[in-house]
Amino acid sequence: MSDADVIDAEVAADDTISFSRIGYERRRPTWDDADMQDVAGRTVVVSGGTAGVGLGASTSLAALGAHVVMLGRSADRGEAAVKEVVAATGNQRVEWVRLDLSSLESVRATAAELLERLPRIHVLINNAGGMWDEWETSVDGIEMSWATNIVGPYLLTELLLDRLAESAPARIVEMTSGGAYSQRLTLGELRGEADAFDPKATYSRTKRAQIVLTELRAAELADRGIVVHVTHPGWTDSPGLRESGAMQGFIRRFESDFRTPEQGADTAVWLSSAREPGATSGLFWHDRRPRETHRVDATRETEQDRRELVELLRRLTGLA
Ligand SMILES: NC(=O)c1ccc[n+]([C@@H]2O[C@H](COP(=O)([O-])OP(=O)(O)OC[C@H]3O[C@@H](n4cnc5c(N)ncnc54)[C@H](OP(=O)(O)O)[C@@H]3O)[C@@H](O)[C@H]2O)c1
Repeated sequence: MSDADVIDAEVAADDTISFSRIGYERRRPTWDDADMQDVAGRTVVVSGGTAGVGLGASTSLAALGAHVVMLGRSADRGEAAVKEVVAATGNQRVEWVRLDLSSLESVRATAAELLERLPRIHVLINNAGGMWDEWETSVDGIEMSWATNIVGPYLLTELLLDRLAESAPARIVEMTSGGAYSQRLTLGELRGEADAFDPKATYSRTKRAQIVLTELRAAELADRGIVVHVTHPGWTDSPGLRESGAMQGFIRRFESDFRTPEQGADTAVWLSSAREPGATSGLFWHDRRPRETHRVDATRETEQDRRELVELLRRLTGLA
């Protein structure tokens, strides 16, 4: 076992260390950034690139010389984020494009605009997402956590797949949450069952679905030159976390050890740029190492659950 293995294993034994800034700071000196330079000049699309973890990722990728395209709902926040990233990195190839993931019409419009504007898309980071405190439905009648975290990103990814394949070698990176460990894949909310809703559990089920979709896509895209990975940022200071009603107790307890957005985004940036993850696919990463996808048998889904997820997503997005 190398020193890096020993440090990683010690940190991984306790989530309050592993997920927090303490874990990041202990592991950081064991990493080598030397192989992250190839992303220079490549086009990276980051959903939710205008705040929190996504802004951290956009800043780090721009600093590495990537052409960064941030997606989000607000033109004001988009323009401010572009200025911030350009000022921080000196990289002028930073853009913002409007996207509301909770609206299928908006997703289709954004995909069309991206295909028009970007002759190549080398990396898609499906980062935007959130937790809802109450049952709410999208303009398409879909529960908001599922609409924003899964259904919209599923459609966006499907619509960009051919461009990613044309740009191969290409990568898709999903931003899930450690909360996924607590939930099995269940689809009640996605079928419109309001009594299945619970803010944290529903959010965590969407985050479980991202891990499942990553594994399915990795198999499906293996011969198209696209690798697919999923990561979680640990506990990261962000506007979304700060504003969440359901997370206020958690914030009071752990805020002194939250990661910065750049620290939270580090593994997503590494997955987008480093050579090692370009040679594998379908893995779940935290702090630059593959991690287990389940900690207890009760969260394991069946093949039938996976099939139902994809069938439902294809029907809801009109791709069936
Ligand atoms: N922060 C954490 O500790 C933590 C922990 C585990 C997992 N995560 C995951 O990390 C990701 C980012 O989280 P965060 O805490 O950085 O979130 P955040 O602070 O809420 O930022 C969300 C970003 O997504 C965009 N966004 C929100 N709703 C959108 C929509 N409907 N359509 C398009 N863009 C939208 C926002 O831009 P606009 O407002 O301009 O649309 C913003 O850029 C999420 O997937 C989250 O589940 C975060």
